[in-house]
Amino acid sequence: MTMQTKLLDAKEIEEAATLLCSGQLVGIPTETVYGLAADALNPQAVEAIFRAKGRPQDNPLILHIADTTWLERYCAEIPQAAYRLAEAFWPGPLTMILKRKAVVPNVVTANLETVGIRCPAHSLCRQLIASADIALAAPSGNISGKPSPTTAEAMLGDMYGKIPAILNGGSCHVGVESTIVDLTGETPQLLRPGGISLEQLREILGEVAVDDAIIKPIDAAAKPRAPGMKYRHYAPEAPVIVVGGTPEKAAAYIMEQAVAGDGVICFEEFCTQFPKQLVRSLGSYADQAEHGRRIFEALRYFDDTSAQKIYAQCPPADGIGMAVANRLKKAAGFHVIEVDS
Ligand code: TXA
Ligand code: MG
Repeated sequence: MTMQTKLLDAKEIEEAATLLCSGQLVGIPTETVYGLAADALNPQAVEAIFRAKGRPQDNPLILHIADTTWLERYCAEIPQAAYRLAEAFWPGPLTMILKRKAVVPNVVTANLETVGIRCPAHSLCRQLIASADIALAAPSGNISGKPSPTTAEAMLGDMYGKIPAILNGGSCHVGVESTIVDLTGETPQLLRPGGISLEQLREILGEVAVDDAIIKPIDAAAKPRAPGMKYRHYAPEAPVIVVGGTPEKAAAYIMEQAVAGDGVICFEEFCTQFPKQLVRSLGSYADQAEHGRRIFEALRYFDDTSAQKIYAQCPPADGIGMAVANRLKKAAGFHVIEVDS
């Protein structure tokens, strides 16, 4: 028997909190993407997350906490750098990897000795965590492998019938997931680009290394630092081809290659160049924050169409663009064409 998934609004935060405290799953809004949350200290509840998403068991979850004082509940040997980052970027789209305490269940960390931890900024999410008074384990609220949901409706599309409720907090302001930085080694290491840019991290930390898995495909046998990086991700049903280079040259290349009915993800300025294609705009070329807000909706859009291929212009890779370009390239399985070279 499938259950009916309810959309809850801001007045129903208590109901969402009660569900979470009783071991049920709830969809939660965050400033990055919607998450699929459970009481982090309840292993049965956390196991249900993996089932609902079809998520591989070896891919650990992030803990969502109410404020920096909760760090000590779950983490050991916390370096000063963690407090400096929290001061600068929390609440916000930053996840830190730290040594965990034994209280964090193995199912959350996939048996790693570390745990990912973040303090989200979305006001409904903050009220929910405070009201439930428990840390929430939450991956993105999509079916494993699909683009992350940035609206309650998109999450409903993936999770209808599988979970009792989604707290509706509107569209996500950042639109791509949190930045993940590993603080357990000698040099801080960026494991996933996201809402906080590499430049911002370096302002606080000085040297930050960049994990290989961000820039190139990793073979299935390799063991990436963020286990999630080895899986196919963010992918619509049709294959995606990312076209890098100046936006003018990329548009010219796409015009040459795309047939009628293909999908095109492009900057606002180029939309009219593709009258025979199905077009999703990322917003204007210069508005990088908008690219972040639109990328997952754009990728999801084509699943309801008959597009056989999706061509995408690639955003400039500085600031949040590093995260948007990373999601696009992962959606494309790193099928990238550089028109400038
Ligand atoms: O913005 C976000 O981070 C969203 C919202 C809901 O908070 N969450 C999210 O979770 O993106 P998820 O599960 O889709 O991605 C978490 C990533 C995965 O690639 C996972 O492998 C990695 O974080 N991760 C989690 N714990 C880790 C750990 N202890 N060490 C290394 N990587 C870890
Ligand atoms: Mg995810």
